[in-house]
Amino acid sequence: MTAVLPQALTAPAVVHHPDAADGPWWRDAVIYQVYPRSFADGNGDGIGDLPGITARLGHLAALGVDAVWLSPFYRSPQADAGYDVADYRDVDPLFGTLADFDALLARAHDLGLRVVVDLVPNHTSDEHAWFAEALRTPPGSPERARYLFRDGRGPDGSLPPNNWDSIFGGPAWTRLTPEQHGVDDGQWYLHLFDSKQPDLDWTNPEVRAEFEDVLRFWLDRGVDGFRVDVAHGMVKADGLPDWDGHVSMIEGSDDGDAADPADAVSGSGNQGPMFDQDGVHEIYRSWRAVLDEYDGDRMLVAEAWVEPLSRLARYVRPDEMHQAFNFAFLATGWDAPALRRVIAASYAVNDSVGAPTTWVLSNHDVVRHHSRLGLPDPTSRPNGIGAADEQPDEELGLRRGRAATLLLLGLPGSAYLYQGEELGLPEHTALDDALRQDPAYFRTGGAELGRDGCRVPLPWSAQEPGFGYSATGDTWLPQPASWAAYAADAQDGVPGSTLELYRAALRLRRAEGLGTGGAAWEPAYDGQDHVIAVRNGDVLVVANLGSAPVPLPDGAELLLASGLPGDAPAGAELPADTTVWLRTR
Ligand code: NOJ
Ligand code: CA
Repeated sequence: MTAVLPQALTAPAVVHHPDAADGPWWRDAVIYQVYPRSFADGNGDGIGDLPGITARLGHLAALGVDAVWLSPFYRSPQADAGYDVADYRDVDPLFGTLADFDALLARAHDLGLRVVVDLVPNHTSDEHAWFAEALRTPPGSPERARYLFRDGRGPDGSLPPNNWDSIFGGPAWTRLTPEQHGVDDGQWYLHLFDSKQPDLDWTNPEVRAEFEDVLRFWLDRGVDGFRVDVAHGMVKADGLPDWDGHVSMIEGSDDGDAADPADAVSGSGNQGPMFDQDGVHEIYRSWRAVLDEYDGDRMLVAEAWVEPLSRLARYVRPDEMHQAFNFAFLATGWDAPALRRVIAASYAVNDSVGAPTTWVLSNHDVVRHHSRLGLPDPTSRPNGIGAADEQPDEELGLRRGRAATLLLLGLPGSAYLYQGEELGLPEHTALDDALRQDPAYFRTGGAELGRDGCRVPLPWSAQEPGFGYSATGDTWLPQPASWAAYAADAQDGVPGSTLELYRAALRLRRAEGLGTGGAAWEPAYDGQDHVIAVRNGDVLVVANLGSAPVPLPDGAELLLASGLPGDAPAGAELPADTTVWLRTR
């Protein structure tokens, strides 16, 4: 490359020192989230299942990820797509059998892939045996004490015990009725999510013992770790005090101006007396002790929508969990100064407790990043996009999405990918409302469209019915016709395709040891607000989030560029909305 950069006058600002290259596998792992109902359907009923996943594990091995995280596949009435568990020790017939799970695990391990399963401890399904027992026994019984049953307020107890709202909309309390529950004592139960997801009482030792046993059940089967659902919600403030704040899947508080970047917030933190209570940490200490009894570096990763990052770091102290999802990074969107702040803060707080930083852009709860970053405001985070909404710019979204991914994968730490992002898959932004299934859509009366648009079955083969997701062509949600171009077989071996970009990035990340590398701001780009330039060992990661090209250093070897096929190749200059990896020594 021949362009001239301003001479670096300052020393690189180190934000993270390299880790030992021989640490536990999860420190720098790339972990791929499989959403079982939408990955691959093995029996043709239109709903993805465990045999479908097993048959497609070769795709993940070829992609080059280290591990698979499976969203819940346990027995469940599917009121919240399996995050409403009726039996923690069995597979729902919709997804297969325990034998199918064992076969999946064995095949994954044969391919060198670890398997992390989802644990949902904040609430059970209302169809769990415990809830049925609670309804059969009177107020004050040990069976009711596993949940948060309370008498209502007002002379006849007809007002909820406090003023909390459900995260999915509507009240967080449901009153028992003879018609619905066969109970006439009129108590209420707490559910931070849907009324079919009653919250457990984690002050109850029986609840604690039960989940330690569930952990052992899956550890004994050979799983490599757990993703812990609502890890910040299990303990509520004493007395369940009223709170006038607002709970939501998608909004937190908005204070990006804190003096210390580690205390700045991106809007990804849940607030209130139901979240981030100090008591949760005792639970994770006991779980850590259980995992430590097992060989093989089993791990825990927290789904905790907690801010600021300095609070989140408390979940990954040395005797607690191993990782926590970095939702502050996800929530920041396409904004270079804000991303630089989040990156620096992520290293500062995680390094202070010796945990690896994680990175994530997409999952089953948010609009896919290849679409989100193509919205008119690429820092916005709607809960779903519908046909009547302003549509993302598909090409711009993909361009930025690929650039964001290359930035993420160039950073030391552990990275989480969501199924389909390796295909460049956009959100389904025009789903027929009649097909929506997310309880948040119904509980908000449609005000929030919800998460179905990121959960549409994957396209595997451009020419087959259902794009090869299911032998019959059935799909539980319809795939847009335009997804033929995104099918895995349409991208396999095609230079410049998103699939080949992800494969190349994962190959290089491994070969260059980027996951355990260090991170320093490249001084040559100091003062260039729209550029994020991180030196990681011999590799320089440069992301241009601005609208004009920026010069690249002289004499650097281009390793990888995120530009779309047909773009002018990155040469002396880095085009807008593009990331490159360069070797500079
Ligand atoms: C977080 C999960 O990711 C989400 O899908 C689910 O609806 C809630 N927790 C409730 O379990
Ligand atoms: Ca199926």
